[in-house]
Parts: sequence; structure tokens; C-alpha cells
Amino acid sequence: MMRTVVRNTFYIHTFGCQMNQADSGIITALMRQEGYSPAESEDEAGIILLNTCAVRENAVDRIENYLQRLQGLKKRHKGLIVGVVGCVPQFQKEEMFSISPAIDFLAGPDKYRSLPLLIEQVRAGLRPLSLEFNSAETYEGIDPVRQGSISAFVPVMRGCNNMCAFCVVPFTRGRERSHPFTSVISEVRQLVASGYREITLLGQNVNSYSDPEEGRNFAVLLDAVSREAPMARIRFTTSHPKDISEALVRTLADHPNLCNHIHLPVQSGSTRMLELMNRGHTIQEYREKLALIRSIIPGVVLTTDIIAGFCGEQEDDHQATLELLSDVRFDLAYMFFYSERPGTLAARTLEDDVPEPVKKRRLQEIIDLQNRISEELYQGAVGTVVEVLAESESKRSSQQLMGRTATNRVVVFDREHYQTGERLNVLITSATSATLIGKPDHAANHVV
Ligand code: SAH
Ligand code: SF4
Ligand code: F3S
Repeated sequence: MMRTVVRNTFYIHTFGCQMNQADSGIITALMRQEGYSPAESEDEAGIILLNTCAVRENAVDRIENYLQRLQGLKKRHKGLIVGVVGCVPQFQKEEMFSISPAIDFLAGPDKYRSLPLLIEQVRAGLRPLSLEFNSAETYEGIDPVRQGSISAFVPVMRGCNNMCAFCVVPFTRGRERSHPFTSVISEVRQLVASGYREITLLGQNVNSYSDPEEGRNFAVLLDAVSREAPMARIRFTTSHPKDISEALVRTLADHPNLCNHIHLPVQSGSTRMLELMNRGHTIQEYREKLALIRSIIPGVVLTTDIIAGFCGEQEDDHQATLELLSDVRFDLAYMFFYSERPGTLAARTLEDDVPEPVKKRRLQEIIDLQNRISEELYQGAVGTVVEVLAESESKRSSQQLMGRTATNRVVVFDREHYQTGERLNVLITSATSATLIGKPDHAANHVV
């Protein structure tokens, strides 16, 4: 069935990280201010925006596939406007246009305020682009439109001043800049008033947060957010191992509503690789940090990111990564094989010399080991009672809800009379390597 396309409606398709998801909320707010309204579906939209991720090669491939589909849609819907925004155009610049004739305009992560102008220019027959960095832009004063009413993202900084050799982010998001402390706190206050139960503070490297007004650091910010939202769960991501401070860890330990989960990407278990990656710490230092965290926060859950097959990686470096995983026993890891990104430090100075089959074999070994560890840890939770914030209906059955523990483990449990947004105790009865399964624990729920 052909749907009616409404000229001033838009649909955003978001790829990539949580920062991009948060940005899509900002874009939605900005577009609404200018009289555009969200479309129910892509088929009905007059404007389609792809908010893109450039971090790995396959992320870019996915966008290309998507654009091919949109080309078909454009033939059927005359006047449909397609904008590609976010990290990929920022990184590929005007060359991006040659990927697909479906693209009408480009905008980088600092240029979302220009979207209405760009759309007008397309309607006037141009194919415009707006890709300048603006290191003052934090989208202050924009009240983002959020998905759902339980969990909210609150960006506390944008950009990244590190230069990890593999990483394109500094080139797609520009210089680091922190949001003012007072505006983070007032956003949190508003979320609490609207009934949000979970707040995640976001930044590429939250530990280098520095309040532009009074220089307050991330530990101070977390402490204040925790007090402002005592009934909500507070999370944050991502931390860089070289910057996570003891003060921060102590703050986490001191406040019950700050979740005892730290995502601390390590990338490799070999100091030699960490040096080539320009990560700014040795593996010994990383292990010491984890030991400190575990001594200050008993029961803390640690997760990480791993890259297999970075430039110059030898078999013994790979073994060191496997050893690290066995020793630390992370709850979960995001695992990737290295893909060279043009313009990065590695692309300019190092040779991408690990053959693809070797990268993939190493990655598979890492995944197999980590899955085994995750499964053991999750099996170890069977028989325990955990506190869960119910987020949504389970994908498999309307008789079940899905939620998370404070340590970010996914729990699927019998719905009974519980509603999303409620916090309850769940008795874990079985587990896979990624999900705990259980039922409400009535005895415990009666007490709380
Ligand atoms: N700012 C975050 C992570 C940003 S990208 C941090 O510093 O930790 C998320 C993850 O993608 C990285 O931690 C890394 O594991 C992975 N990644 C980044 N660039 C990559 C590349 N070129 N190839 C493969 N994985 C990459
Ligand atoms: Fe996020 Fe990085 Fe992807 Fe940009 S490139 S969307 S910052 S993951
Ligand atoms: Fe920055 Fe993280 Fe890369 S801190 S340089 S984005 S891996």
C-alpha cells in the first residue's frame, strides 16, 4: 500500500553509539522547533536523516546498503529528501556524495542547528553540506526529545582529545568540550520530575570531564547527580583507563544509587600493543586499577572492549589478551577485529599487517573464551535474588518483562502484575551467557 508522504515530516535512522542516539534526540527537538514533525514511519516521511557511525569499516558499509534502499524509495516518493549526518560525512567530507545519488545534503555532529537551512537549500535545488567543527557547541538550551520514559541519556561532554591510534572519533567529533555543571544538574532535575528511573551520563571519555564554569571534575559531578536523583539509578560511559581516578571509584562506593558497573575498555592485554595504540598506560597499570576498583567496590561488575589484530600484533600479544580475559573475568566484552580507518594515527604511521584470516581467528578465540567466562559468571548467579528495573516487555513473550540489574546484567522474568518502570527483586532460576532468567521473589518484594 502506498502511504501518504507529508512534506514536513522527518524520520531519523540512528546508527552507532549512545552518543549518536542522544544526538538524534537533539535533532528531533531542533526540527520540531522549526515546525517539522516526526513521521510514524520511514514510508511516510518527507525527510529521512541517517545519523551515522564511522568507527569501524562495517558501520560505513551498512550505511551504503541503506542508501541503496533509499534510492528505490526516492523513485516512488517524489520530493523525498535524504540527509546523511553525524560521523561518516564528518569523516568523508564531500566525497560522501559520490557514494549514492540518493544523498541530498550532509551535516556534521556540530552542525545540527543548520538542518532547517540545509533542507531549505535542498528545496531550492542545491546539494549543500555543513561540516565545520564548532568546539563551543554543546547544544545548550535544547531540550532533547527522548525515547521511552524510564531511561534517559544525558551527554556531559562531546568530542575527544585523545589520539588512540586506531580511532576515528577525534576526527569525527572534534575537540573535547564539557557541558556546564549547572546545566547537567538542571537536566537531571527535570528528568527526575518527569519520573525517569535511570540516567546514563555520556561522553567519549567521561573521566576527563571538566566543568567550563568552575572546573569541577567528573567525581564531583557524579556525586551531585547522585544527590539530585536519589531514587534513580545512575550510570556513566565511557571511562578511559588512564583517567579513571580513585576519587571517582570512592564516589561510586559511597552512593547506593550509583551503579556498581564500570565499562573500562582495555583493547589489548599486551603493553606493547597498548603503546602502539597510544593508550597511555601499561597492562600492569590497568590490572592495578582493576584491583583498586575491586578493593573499594566489592561486587563491582567490569566490562570492556577488545580489538583483535591491531597493527603489528604477534601471537604472544594475542595470548596476553586471552590471559587478561581469563584473569580478570569481565562480565561482558565488546569484541572487534581491527579495521583501519583512513586519517587515523595508525593509518598514517603503522602497517595494517595482520592478515584478515588471522584477525578473524584471533577474534573468534577471544569471543569463545569470553562467552565461556560470561556464561560461568551468569550461571553463578542462579539461585540468587537480584534487584531489577523493568524496562520493557520481553521480545519472546508478552508474559515476561525484560530489565537490568544495577550491574547492567539483562534479566528476563515472569511478568505477573509488574509494570515497566518498577523496581523489584527477582529470583534467578537459570541463565545463558548473556541473560539471567527468573521470577519475582515475593518474599523479598514484600520486605522492600
Ligand atoms: N570512547 C570510547 C570508545 C569509542 S569507540 C573509548 O575510548 O573507550 C568504541 C570501541 O570501538 C572502542 O573501544 C574500540 O574497541 C572499538 N574500535 C574503535 N576503533 C576501531 C577500529 N578502527 N577497529 C576496530 N575496532 C575499533
Ligand atoms: Fe559514536 Fe564513534 Fe560512531 Fe561517532 S564514530 S557515532 S562517536 S561510535
Ligand atoms: Fe577517544 Fe576513545 Fe578513541 S577516548 S581516541 S574515542 S578509543
